[in-house]
Formats: sequence, C-alpha cells, structure tokens
Amino acid sequence: MNDTGSHRKTGPGGSSALWGGRFSAEPGEVMERINASIDFDRRLYAHDIGASKAHCEMLVACGIVGEADGEAILSGLDRILAEIESGTFAFSRRREDIHMNVEARLTELIGPAAGRLHTARSRNDQVATDLRLWLRDTIDEADAALRGLQAVLVDRAEEHAASAMPGLTHLQAAQPITLGHHLLAYVEMLGRDRGRLADARRRLNECPLGAAALAGTPYPIDRDRTAAALGFDRPAANALDAVSDRDFVLEFLAAAAIAASHLSRLGEELVLWCSAQFGFVRLGDAFTTGSSIMPQKRNPDAAELVRAKTGRIVGALTTLAIVMKGLPLAYSKDMQEDKEPLFDAVDTLGLAVSAMTGMMRDAAFDTGAMREAAEKGFVTATDLADWLVRERDMPFREAHRVTGALVKCAEEAGCDLADLPLEALKSVEPGLTEEVYDVLDIDRAVAARNSPGGTAPERVLDGVRSARERFL
Ligand code: ARG
Repeated sequence: MNDTGSHRKTGPGGSSALWGGRFSAEPGEVMERINASIDFDRRLYAHDIGASKAHCEMLVACGIVGEADGEAILSGLDRILAEIESGTFAFSRRREDIHMNVEARLTELIGPAAGRLHTARSRNDQVATDLRLWLRDTIDEADAALRGLQAVLVDRAEEHAASAMPGLTHLQAAQPITLGHHLLAYVEMLGRDRGRLADARRRLNECPLGAAALAGTPYPIDRDRTAAALGFDRPAANALDAVSDRDFVLEFLAAAAIAASHLSRLGEELVLWCSAQFGFVRLGDAFTTGSSIMPQKRNPDAAELVRAKTGRIVGALTTLAIVMKGLPLAYSKDMQEDKEPLFDAVDTLGLAVSAMTGMMRDAAFDTGAMREAAEKGFVTATDLADWLVRERDMPFREAHRVTGALVKCAEEAGCDLADLPLEALKSVEPGLTEEVYDVLDIDRAVAARNSPGGTAPERVLDGVRSARERFL
C-alpha cells in the first residue's frame, strides 16, 4: 500500500469537500465554535441568575458592594430573567457562555455597576454552583417521574396479584409466578434508583460559591449566607475541590444509567411479551406502530426505543468519566464538556420514563395466554419434588431425580405432568398417590409459595401495601 491518507487526492480547492470548509474558516471562528457553550448552557439561565442574586445580596450585606449598586444589579438581573423567559434575550456566541451573556447584558442595562457583581467570584465557582442547583431540581423531577411509574406498576400488580404466568430463568419456563409478583420486582428496582438519586442529591448539596477561581478570596464574604440563600446544606469545605469536582454529575449519571438499564429490561420483556410467540400483552395503540408492508404487525417501537436509549445514558456516563479522568486540579476547560452529556441523559431518561409509564398504564395483559403458557413447560416439576420431600421424606436430590424421570415420561407421551395417569407415576415412584395432582395445579403451586417476598397472591398484596407505604 503506497496510497496513504496523507497523499490522498483532494478536491480542486486543494482540500476535500468534507474538510475544506473547516480548514478555510478563520481561526477566530473555529475558536468560537469550539469554545462557546452558550448553545447548550443557556439552559442554566434561571439558576445562574438566582445564584448571582444571592451572591449580590451577600456582597451588599457584607459591605463589599454599596446598596444602590446592589439594587441596580438585582433589578437588572430580574429584567434579564424576564427577557430570557419571554424569548427577547439576544444570546451571543461571542459572549461564550451563559455567565458572560448575562453579565454583558447587565452592563448594557445598568452600566459599570454591573462590573461589581463579579467581585469575589469566578466563573469556576459560578458554573459549579449553577450546575449543582440545576441538577438538584432535575433530580427532584426525575424522582417524581420514577415515583409515577412505580405507582402505575403497583396498581397493575394489585390488579394482577393472582394472574399466573410462567416465571423464567435462562428465558426458559422455571416455576409459575404471578404477574403481580413480576411487576413488583420492577417497583423495587425503581425504588433503589430513587434511593441512588436521593443519595446523589444529598451529597451534591454543598455550595461552591466563594471558592472563587480556586483559592478563595481576600474579600470578607459570608459563604454561609449564600449557601443558605440557595438552599444548600453548607458551603463546600475546600475551594480547590469545590471548583474541580464533578462527582455530583457522575453520580447522577451512574444512577441514571442503572435506572435506564432497569427500564431497558422491562422494555425487553414487553417486546417479548407482545410477540406472537408469547402473546402475553397487547400494548396500546399510542405506543405501537404498524408495518408499511406487513399488515399483521403491531410493532412495540416505544418499548424498543426505551431499551435502546439506555445506550445514550450509559454513553453519557462513560463520556464524563473519561473527560474527568486525569484532569489536574483545579478547573480546566475540559469540564465544560460535562453539560451536553448530562442534559442529553436527563432528557432521554425523562422521555423513557414517560413512555414506560404510558405503556404500562395502557397495556392489556392476556391472562388466559399467560396461564396457558404457565401450564406448559413442566413448571410445577419443583412442586412435585417438594411433595416427595414433604410427604415421603425423600432427600431433595433423590426427589429431583425422580421428578426428572417423570418429566421425561411426560415428554415422551407428549403431555404435561398433570396428564400422566397414576399408574405411569407409580411405575417411576411407587410412593406417589392421587394427592400429588394437587401440587401440579398452577394456582396451588403459586399459592404455596407464600414465604415473605414470594409469588403467592396474598404475598403480592402484602407487597403492594408495603410498596405503597415505602414509595408512594
Ligand atoms: N462555560 C464554562 C464551563 O461550562 C464556565 C467556566 C469557565 N471558566 C474558565 N475558567 N474559563 O465550564
């Protein structure tokens, strides 16, 4: 191979069409594009302005800024907030980010007094504060959304406390369970997700303001005051750490990634369950699509997309973990790359939770098909073995061997265990009697598993009560 990349022929302008446009751009333009974050960090505007107001009030209270200037700054900030909310604010890439856009506009509005706002502050502690405030509100929203999904799952579990279905391991029929039991498993997962978010929220609730660039400030500021004004538990203890920490974003993304993988597992189950092969559920029209060529299809697109979107959220966690790894203290511009993955993960998770909540609310379960499937696949084989242990004092291993032989008989006869005649049972194990047919019944098998946390309908109803107490 002598045709290496560096010798590749280019277009008439001397550069390929793909790259040429960018290489010929002015350095200033390229710098603006790589450096400016306003296109995405404008999302922080309300928290940026709120934090600036708290900082300004503190500066006035500590005698660092005069009352009149302080009032001009506060009313200017209010006006900027109104401009942004009404869509009249002119965001500018030249002004780089939300902090400088706001400050520049403040200068236009109130003149040189605007310059006093940045006393005893740096964009480093400013952005760290804004992002914590934004994420704190976002976590509260995410928590409410997950709670909403839990509420739907708990209601459906109550409705289906006694609906039998095959419980699977290795995707193969294992033991009969109830749909309520299955749905409550997801309620627990989502409960842990909410717990992780609550942990992240608790740890993030320290205020970086006053850390300034990295070393603190010579002004006589009151960090307790700004922390309290913004609802933080306390000021962050170390200025260097306060400006270079993005653990709180990583923790949120880790919690979001785990939550997304839970939603993905449920999405996968819905995809399976609504296939013709399972036929356990019919998803609502709102969450399925038809095929343009195959009229019989009802595709579970929303469930598939919930499953797939997990990739983006896990990707966001990976992205930021790689950005942060190896950054020397304190701030580096690398850290500006925290926001897009975070925002995308937040939006994606929100959408996935909404879609899942809607799907689960509308889903029509086919309890007949689930029961029929539960009756196939020798799912009561364990119950037969347990009966031998209980009624004939047989060691479990031996009971397991006997039951295996009976399953083989049934397989050969092409029937279920319950369809084998008593003589056939007795020929394998003389100790078997008519009573054993009771334990081969699906409903009895399910009802028998009434240990705490088990699948018996009464336990599912306990679980519903307990979930309502703990989570709703
Ligand atoms: N836009 C920046 C960011 O998101 C704000 C902090 C800039 N600080 C600095 N020293 N350049 O990270």
